[in-house]
Amino acid sequence: MSFEQLVEQLKSHLRARVGCSDDEIRVVRSPLRVSPLGAHVDHQDGLVTGMALDQAIYLAFVPRTDARVRVTSLNFEGCTDFSLDSIPPLVPQDWGNYARGAALALVRSHAIYLGLDAVVMGTMPIGGLSSSAAVGVAYLLALESANGLALTPQENIELDRYVENVYLGLRNGVLDQSMILLSDRDCLTFLDCRTMEVQRIPTAASPADYEILVVYSGIRKALVGTAYNNRVAECQEAAQLMLAWSGQPSTNGNSRLRLVDPGIYAQWGSRLPAPLDRRARHFFTELERVREGVEAWRAGDIGRVGELMRASGASSVHNYESGSPHLTSLYEILCACPGVYGARFSGAGFRGSCVALSNPAYREEIEAFISAHYPAKHPDIADWYSVHFCHTSEAARLIA
Ligand code: GLA
Repeated sequence: MSFEQLVEQLKSHLRARVGCSDDEIRVVRSPLRVSPLGAHVDHQDGLVTGMALDQAIYLAFVPRTDARVRVTSLNFEGCTDFSLDSIPPLVPQDWGNYARGAALALVRSHAIYLGLDAVVMGTMPIGGLSSSAAVGVAYLLALESANGLALTPQENIELDRYVENVYLGLRNGVLDQSMILLSDRDCLTFLDCRTMEVQRIPTAASPADYEILVVYSGIRKALVGTAYNNRVAECQEAAQLMLAWSGQPSTNGNSRLRLVDPGIYAQWGSRLPAPLDRRARHFFTELERVREGVEAWRAGDIGRVGELMRASGASSVHNYESGSPHLTSLYEILCACPGVYGARFSGAGFRGSCVALSNPAYREEIEAFISAHYPAKHPDIADWYSVHFCHTSEAARLIA
């Protein structure tokens, strides 16, 4: 389906549902994201990289004259319906949580009174591409537009952090919403999660030399309640121990591995008990891979970026121990695939997708290689996995 057809589909649903005219309808496009390097270091205030994809969440809406928010989805059943005056608490596993969370984040910090009627849809299978942050950002931008607010990307990053950390209870970092709100076409976004300093880095390589390969594993499972929050706690415990051993001031239980100087890690890291030693090893080696990868990207050395992605994937498997049998198989298959520069888990890596950088000349071989190996190893997902060749795009914004 073309972009125009997709937007028209959303608009016609909204016209049919609320009887509005075409020129009243506004549309937000909020891209999905990948992170070539910088796995699971954002919640420790580390260094991350990412890109916004040409696959997105689209939200068509009309502002209302009262405080009601009514949303339907082309991907999920039912209607999310609430008032800004009394926003209901989290409903486990419900797609309406993102609208409620975004509304709550805004109501707490800004004078907003007007709700909206909206229809939302995503263009990719859910998992590993941060559709949750993309949809959260889409609701934020729509509610801000309906209420005449103009917020900076940094303010929206903090609002979406509230949605994820407080409303949804996931102790994640700011990688997802930052890439969605700060990225640009043909650039790698490099973010320091401690200072929030951002660089959008073009590459000396030609856009014809690489594309972004996303392979959806066919596995979909909720992120909250998985090992994600446990890993965050382990990283914090490792930081706490090293800070204490080296006589650093106490952080009152709010330690982050980024507070640990690499020299202190070199001196004290070997004392860490398992598995904290592996979590810290992942953090410090990933920071080096991010720094080197950013320079390789800038210089146009996509092959080297790919090698670093493989090393990042291996560290996720052996040190961070995220992954799942399906995702680990996919990662191994992609690493052996002709035309793939490098691959790793996309996102948290407990479900969802793998991301790779690939050579556009090898599209057919890549599809054939994956279909020859992946479903044979995991017949349960044979009807569910999918292969997508993607490109970069610009950040989330109102497009109509
Ligand atoms: C998920 C989280 C992010 C980040 C990645 C792993 O996408 O939402 O904050 O931690 O996993 O890099």
